[in-house]
Amino acid sequence: MAHPVVTEAEVVESAPAGAYRRLVLRAPEVARRMSPGHFATVGPGGERVLRRAFWLHRADPAAGTVELVVAERGPGTRELVHSLVGERLSLIAPLGTPFPLPEGPVSALLVAEGHGSAALFGLAEEIRRRGGQVGFILGAASAAGLFGEAAARELTPDVLVVTADGSAGLAGTVTEVVAQAVRAIDATVVYACGPAPVLAAVAATAVELAARCWTAVEEPMACGTGICRGCVLPVAGADGVVREVRCCVEGPVFDGSRVRWAEPVVSV
Ligand SMILES: Cc1cc2nc3c(=O)[nH]c(=O)nc-3n(C[C@H](O)[C@H](O)[C@H](O)COP(=O)(O)OP(=O)(O)OC[C@H]3O[C@@H](n4cnc5c(N)ncnc54)[C@H](O)[C@@H]3O)c2cc1C
Ligand code: FES
Repeated sequence: MAHPVVTEAEVVESAPAGAYRRLVLRAPEVARRMSPGHFATVGPGGERVLRRAFWLHRADPAAGTVELVVAERGPGTRELVHSLVGERLSLIAPLGTPFPLPEGPVSALLVAEGHGSAALFGLAEEIRRRGGQVGFILGAASAAGLFGEAAARELTPDVLVVTADGSAGLAGTVTEVVAQAVRAIDATVVYACGPAPVLAAVAATAVELAARCWTAVEEPMACGTGICRGCVLPVAGADGVVREVRCCVEGPVFDGSRVRWAEPVVSV
C-alpha cells in the first residue's frame, strides 16, 4: 500500500465525457503517490455511511491533481456527477495494490469494459515509457458507454472497439476478440479491468495463449481499507492454496489465472 492520504479535495474541473463525468480534483499528496491500478474512495455524503470507490484515472503531480471518471449509477455517484467546481470532496487515496509494471519493453494488450478503461491509460503510458507497445480493446453495451477511445488512438493504432449493440466498432463483446488481439500484437501480457465475468473470460483466454494476465476487479467495497472483509475473493497463492483475499488491500489487481472466479469464498 502507498500510505493513503485522507484529504478534502477541491473539485477544479467537472466535464462530461460521453456517458461519464470526468472530475479533476486538487489532491497533491495523492497525485505524488499514485500508480496505475490504485483507487480512491469518496464520500460519504447526505445520509449515506459508506464511501464509494473509483479508479484514479490520471495524476498530474506538477499540477497537484488527480482525475476520476464517474458513471451515474445510484445516489452516491449521482451526487458526485453533480458536484460543482470549488466543492470539496472527502477523498482517501491511493488505495489498493496497483498493476505490476514490466521491467523492460513488452507487448501488452489492455482490455476494458465501460469505465474500466479509466484504470488503464496511466499504465499504457508507463509501458510505452519503458520501450514497450500496447494495444487496446474497449468495450461497452453501446457507443455511449465507451470511455477513452480517442485517448487510446493517440497512444497506438491497435485499438479494437466492441459494442454489444453494434453502435460503435464491432458488434459483440470484448471477450470474443481477445484471442485475435493477443495474436495481432504478439502480446505477452494482458491487463484487464471490468466486471468479473469479463475478467474471468479474458484471464482464461490469456492462460490458453500463454500470456500473463493482470485483472483489476471492482468488487463492491464497504470500507476500502481492509477492515470489514466485505470484499473478499478466492485467490490461489504461490503455494496453490486458495484463500479469501481482500480486494481493497491485496487487490484490486490480481493475477487473473489465480482468481477462482466461479468458486464460492472459503476461509483458509
Ligand atoms: C476498485 C473500484 C473501482 C471503481 N472504479 C469506478 C470508476 O472509475 N468509475 C465508476 O463510475 N465506478 C467505479 N466503481 C464502481 C462504483 O464504486 C459504484 O458504481 C458506486 O459505488 C455506486 O454507488 P452509488 O451510491 O451510486 O450506487 P448504489 O448502487 O446505490 O451503491 C450502493 C452500494 O453498493 C456499492 N456498489 C454498488 N455497485 C458497485 C460496484 N459496481 N462496484 C463496487 N461497489 C458497488 C457501493 O459502494 C455502495 O455501498 C469502482 C468500484 C470499485 C470497487
Ligand atoms: S472493503 Fe472492507 S475489507 Fe475490503
